Amino acid sequence: MSNHITLLAIESSCDETSAAVLHHGQIVSNVTANQQVHVQYGGVVPELASRAHQQHIVPVVAAALQQAGKTVRDLHAIAFTRGPGLMGSLLVGTSFAKGMALALNIPLIDVQHMHAHVLAHLIEDPKPPFPFLCLTVSGGHTQIVHVHSPTNMQLIGETRDDAVGEAFDKAAKMLGLPYPGGPLIDKYAQQGNPLRFTFPQVSTPGLDFSFSGIKTAFLYFLQTQQQLNPDFIAENLNDICASIQHALITILLTKLRKAARQTGIRHVAIAGGVAANSGLRKAVAEMGQTEGWQVYVPRFEYCTDNAAMIAMAAYYKFLAGDFCGQDVSPLPRMAF
Ligand code: KG4
Ligand code: ZN
Repeated sequence: MSNHITLLAIESSCDETSAAVLHHGQIVSNVTANQQVHVQYGGVVPELASRAHQQHIVPVVAAALQQAGKTVRDLHAIAFTRGPGLMGSLLVGTSFAKGMALALNIPLIDVQHMHAHVLAHLIEDPKPPFPFLCLTVSGGHTQIVHVHSPTNMQLIGETRDDAVGEAFDKAAKMLGLPYPGGPLIDKYAQQGNPLRFTFPQVSTPGLDFSFSGIKTAFLYFLQTQQQLNPDFIAENLNDICASIQHALITILLTKLRKAARQTGIRHVAIAGGVAANSGLRKAVAEMGQTEGWQVYVPRFEYCTDNAAMIAMAAYYKFLAGDFCGQDVSPLPRMAF
């Protein structure tokens, strides 16, 4: 019986409204609605995000059930993202999940969003064996996780200030690129010289990261160069993007290598939206060659925020009998 379970999962922590259905341990649908409304403001506006979730959630859930060929009567449990994330956004998914579980009289499963990013690696083959290390890199987080099992993982390093995706986006903004600028830096970097410009880096202890120093250094660098040549950015965009991307990736990989050497783990995974970065993918693959790692990168739709990863995390909680009550509330700063 246990592996015959069918789950519906809902993700609404930031600006993506997503629903997924899991059946027999497999993801059978994953539907995500993006919110374009934030582009004109150069970042996610929390108030607008919760309103958009409110509009999207019913059609997104309906589409996920339909694509899975299921009805609500087939469901054994409802899962949702409890945190971390934006309070208003989390409230929409949490309230919707509670209402549905109550109406159907089935259990409710709360999922920690960052655990789910890691467990996105269990959606499709090739899946990393346990234990593995996961570098989770997104607009909100930069973490190194030692994954013992689907329900037992340990945070061994994280950022002390900005997330790396935020550093990408802020650098892009300084260059006058639209939000979110990370993918554009990636695009221009592909034509540029990563060693043309260097930026001073702040060293952080242990396995923790810091990106605020390089962000400030990048700002001063641009200001100085533009005083000498007002067209500096336009004339050197590819090299600037390649150089800042290279610097950010170097910070990530230095700590990832340290973590792998310290733990002796050779199965190394990357997750989160920044895992889409072509320079990072290439650099991790190259480091894997020299360090003797097996490297794992999920498909793009499972790297960015999605409900399939929430469903996967919920599946293991279901098997462990780990449910939550109707009195549960979202935790914007939920602990790892
Ligand atoms: O995981 P995600 O979709 O959302 C959360 O933050 O939870 O990550 C979004 C972040 C943004 O900062 C975006 O600029 C960055 O991922 N990103 C990239 C690339 N694609 C997305 N950064 C660099 N290169 C990319 N190709
Ligand atoms: Zn995320």
